[in-house]
Order: sequence, then C-alpha cells, then structure tokens
Amino acid sequence: MAQRVVVAVSNLKGGVGKSTSAVYLSGAAVRSGRGPVTLIDADPQASSAEWLESAPIEHVEVVEAPTTRLVTRALEQARRRLVIVDTPPGAGDEKIVRAVLEAADVVVVPTRAGGTETSRVLATLALMPASMPRGIVVCSARLGTRDLDETVAAWEASGEEVWGLIPERVSIAAGAAGPLSSVGIAHYENVLLSALAAT
Ligand SMILES: Nc1ncnc2c1ncn2[C@@H]1O[C@H](COP(=O)(O)OP(=O)(O)O)[C@@H](O)[C@H]1O
Ligand SMILES: [Mg+2]
Repeated sequence: MAQRVVVAVSNLKGGVGKSTSAVYLSGAAVRSGRGPVTLIDADPQASSAEWLESAPIEHVEVVEAPTTRLVTRALEQARRRLVIVDTPPGAGDEKIVRAVLEAADVVVVPTRAGGTETSRVLATLALMPASMPRGIVVCSARLGTRDLDETVAAWEASGEEVWGLIPERVSIAAGAAGPLSSVGIAHYENVLLSALAAT
C-alpha cells in the first residue's frame, strides 16, 4: 500500500483525450514494467472500461466506478501499485472529479492545442490544491503548427509543466478497434515517467 501511486486523468472538458490517455498510460505502465495497474473508470460513459473490455491489456484490471460513492470505495480498495483514474467531464458531475482529485497523488491534464481550451484547463486546475503535482498533455497534437507552439509556450509561461505532446495519429484514434499504437505507447511512457517523478 505504501508504494501505491494514484494518477488521475482529468479535464472538465469532454473530448480532449482523457480516456485515450488513461488507457495508454495503463498500457505504457505495463509494457515498461511498472504494472500491474488498476484502471478505475469514474466516467458513467465508461469509454475506457468498454475499450478494455473489447481489447484487454494483460495486467490491467478495470474497475467501473461511475458515482462519487463508488469511486471513493474503488480508490480505498485498489491495492495495485499503480492506480490510474479516468474521470468524467465536469458537465455531468463535478463531485466525482473532486473525489478523485482528493485521492490523487498526481494529475495528468489532457488538453488540445488552441486558446479556447485554456479556460476549462484552468477550471480543472482550480479544483485541486495548488501543491498538487500535475502536468499538461497536449493530445492529438499537430507538430510544427503555430497553434501548438503557442499553446505550449503559454502553459510554460504560466508555470504549468507540459509533460507530453501526443501526435495526432489514426492508429491512436482507432481506440479499441486496433492494437495500442507503438508511437502512442512511447509518448505516454514519457508522460508516465514525468508523472511518477513529480510525486
Ligand atoms: N493522439 C490522438 N490522435 C488521434 N486521435 C486522438 C488522439 N487522442 C485522442 N484522440 C481521439 O479524440 C477523441 C476524444 O478522445 P477521448 O480520449 O475519448 O476524450 P475524453 O475522454 O476526454 O472525452 C476520440 O475520438 C479519440 O480517439
Ligand atoms: Mg472519456
């Protein structure tokens, strides 16, 4: 128990890459010898639970916990050394997100490039203590674009760490329909290393 690390994957906005990040972080953890992993899916939409149901990853167990009560219990009961928690967007139930952030050791905040994304990230950051180790991950990133460069520069200027730029890939967008992309795994392994180093 003492060694357990809880990594929350949170952004109050939907469609930014939370579930993709939670599944890839789990896969990257196992492949780099940091498993076994408990992936708690706290989103009633159950995207990551459904993903792993149709494309299981060895040494990753999934716990569906789509209410505040269930996620609190799941977090208490998870015994594996790495616990990764996928969270719902805030539109549904911000209380679930708060419960997860309270129990987290570190938070990965997936987002997209572009100024319109900033306010929801700031609202997400405001839900956690200022001292919470956290890092931004830009998902579906188009490398070499001005939008991306400006987004990274803006976060760094505001004192937020950027832990990863995950390139936009058809193989990642395929989700459960295909195997985990090796490019995705490699990028998320670096994100995981940053997250673990920050705890
Ligand atoms: N690196 C990527 N390359 C291409 N598509 C991506 C990438 N990351 C996420 N996506 C796609 O973006 C959409 C939203 O991702 P998802 O993980 O479901 O977001 P959330 O859980 O925040 O709602 C999905 O269609 C997913 O396949
Ligand atoms: Mg999701």
